[in-house]
Amino acid sequence: KGKRAFVAGVADDNGFGWAIAKSLAAAGAEILVGTWVPALNIFETSLQRGKFDESRKLPDGSLMEITKIYPLDAVFDNPDDVPEDIKTNRRYAGSTNWTVREVAESVKRDFGSIDILVHSLANGPEVSKPLLETSRNGYLAALSASSYSYVSLLKHFLPFMNPGGSSISLTHVASERIIPGYGGGMNSAKAALESDTRVLAFEAGRKHKIRVNTISAGPLRSRAAKAIGFIDTMIEYSLANAPLQKELTADEVGNTAAFLASPLASAITGAVVFVDNGLNAMGVGV
Ligand code: NAI
Repeated sequence: KGKRAFVAGVADDNGFGWAIAKSLAAAGAEILVGTWVPALNIFETSLQRGKFDESRKLPDGSLMEITKIYPLDAVFDNPDDVPEDIKTNRRYAGSTNWTVREVAESVKRDFGSIDILVHSLANGPEVSKPLLETSRNGYLAALSASSYSYVSLLKHFLPFMNPGGSSISLTHVASERIIPGYGGGMNSAKAALESDTRVLAFEAGRKHKIRVNTISAGPLRSRAAKAIGFIDTMIEYSLANAPLQKELTADEVGNTAAFLASPLASAITGAVVFVDNGLNAMGVGV
């Protein structure tokens, strides 16, 4: 029967979140998305104007429907956590109920339950700085936006996730291997996300029969990745050195997410699944 998915971290048609939503939609799921508040306006406008129609195309020729878009800022759990300068910010003032708890409450009120929760978001304000030059605030902000945001989302959505459901996040090999340029504490944020995937798999599995996995993706020229600055170098490096010498598409990650969310993966939980053309398995560049 049709499943319902909430995909957090979709604000254009270039990133992993969009591709995951598409793969889930192609498999018959109903799609709800959470879009970062400052990006909401342009995303909704572009969608309405048909700017994404070409990339909304599913394999059967129909267009992916997004049932509802929720404004979300996953750095805040409750309205009480939101500082004054954000509250009064022009880009936030037009939206309401966008803290994690409020979004979860809204989804529960609107739809009753979900089956699939996807976390496809990250932010590290000092990502372009080496770790030795990263400030405490920058480091903690990276963990807040990229790691705790997932703990918080799962914590708030879990009570109304149907047993047998599945949760997925996106991680990066910089958690366990040195990737110069992936700075600002983002390596630590991904290490936390992967460790939490195991602990959350235990807790959510025992308590709610929900599976928790993370996909360690290879390089993709998304908006977030372009902001980091060395994405083209990473793509070239992968092309030159990975076992599979082809560029990774977002759809390949989307399809893996659809598999992980499906009954085909009913015994897979607590796993870090590499979708990177095998690059992580290499010991040296060749
Ligand atoms: P993206 O730009 O499509 O997605 C990141 C999203 O996070 C954006 O939509 C942005 O608006 C949202 N966001 C940022 N801060 C937020 C907040 N506080 N609350 C709510 N949303 C927020 O880029 P991409 O690359 O698809 O990123 C998705 C995930 O994939 C991230 O976890 C990223 O670290 C991961 N990843 C990306 C790789 C790449 O090469 N692009 C490689 C491996 C992992």
